[in-house]
Amino acid sequence: MTLGLVTAGESHGPALLAILTGLPAGLRLDREAIDSDLRRRQQGYGRSPRQQLETDQVEVLAGLRHGSTLGTPLALVVSNRDHENWMWGMSPWPLETEPEGKGTKPVTLPRPGHADLAGVLKYGHDDVRNALERASARHTAVHVAAGAVAKALLGELGIGVAGHPVEIGGATDDEGMREATDAARADRDTLGGVVEVVATGVPPGLGSYAEKSDRLDARLAAALMGIQAVKGVEIGDGLALARVRGSEAHDEIDPGLVRRTNRAGGIEAGVSNGEPIVVRAGMKPLPTLMRPLDSVDLVTGEAAQALVERSDVQAVEALAVVAECTVAWELARAAREKFGGDALVDMLAAHRSYLERISHTWHR
Ligand SMILES: Cc1cc2nc3c(=O)[nH]c(=O)nc-3n(C[C@H](O)[C@H](O)[C@H](O)COP(=O)(O)O)c2cc1C
Repeated sequence: MTLGLVTAGESHGPALLAILTGLPAGLRLDREAIDSDLRRRQQGYGRSPRQQLETDQVEVLAGLRHGSTLGTPLALVVSNRDHENWMWGMSPWPLETEPEGKGTKPVTLPRPGHADLAGVLKYGHDDVRNALERASARHTAVHVAAGAVAKALLGELGIGVAGHPVEIGGATDDEGMREATDAARADRDTLGGVVEVVATGVPPGLGSYAEKSDRLDARLAAALMGIQAVKGVEIGDGLALARVRGSEAHDEIDPGLVRRTNRAGGIEAGVSNGEPIVVRAGMKPLPTLMRPLDSVDLVTGEAAQALVERSDVQAVEALAVVAECTVAWELARAAREKFGGDALVDMLAAHRSYLERISHTWHR
């Protein structure tokens, strides 16, 4: 038993879709909780005006009845309100009408750092838009919706997950982050940053050392690295552990199996150890600059300036929400594998019985 997630949708297409499989029956979902995470993803100091245009809301097409999951595939949809401006440009079918609105002219100026050049070469497109529409981080909206569902499941197990920015453009306090964002905006430049996600209440035993692909740290790292613009992931003290001695690196164990420190970030040998799980993700500066970088026109082969399209100065606060939801999804998947059950009550019974089995040594 595991969770599955498939998504579809282009940035300016009609909608984004997600199909979630493997959820137990009887999980109560709160529409407002999902919409609230969708809103959180859209906020942040450095976001583009598009975020005011889109007020994302989830629609459910299957798998839910009167707020309870049915144990069948859950189909979620988030509409792209901006699509009304791209009706011709992003029409799924050829249209007989005169081209109008956005997206009618082919894009031939690839942005360094975006999917544009690799995408057109790989798929044989002659319009960069055919690559960038799906590569865009717009579809993180449905990953957030899926993560909100995962958080509902984790909540039943007493697990909480929260993400926050720890660094924006090198600044680590709120005021510095705003100043750095304002300065980059004034220079028509972009920034990156670092986010941290902490999961509490995670029991020991999620993930496994049996195979590389089973390791919880590997799964979290792959999932976080799968988010657009994430270029580095750290579990616990991560790279800093490479520079200290063993006596300063490991988390010594006291009676009751309590740890004095949590440098491992809650995971040893690919298995959760009962301490809070702490992961960090580093985001590169966004590749769409209002002061475009040097590129080449794909039609003429001549030097040119890269595409300028409405874009964020930085999206680190948004990444914190996407990363939180991504970690939640991976933890929920690992929890489904450990505790199984067709109905939520079966899953909760397995969870209770497991905690009971380890309770003589491990105290939460
Ligand atoms: C929440 C979020 C918002 C983003 N917004 C933008 C944006 O407005 N402009 C942009 O050029 N890139 C943006 N990106 C990053 C690009 O989608 C990403 O750099 C691009 O798809 C290339 O992938 P890569 O950076 O992983 O190599 C955003 C990423 C995230 C996670």
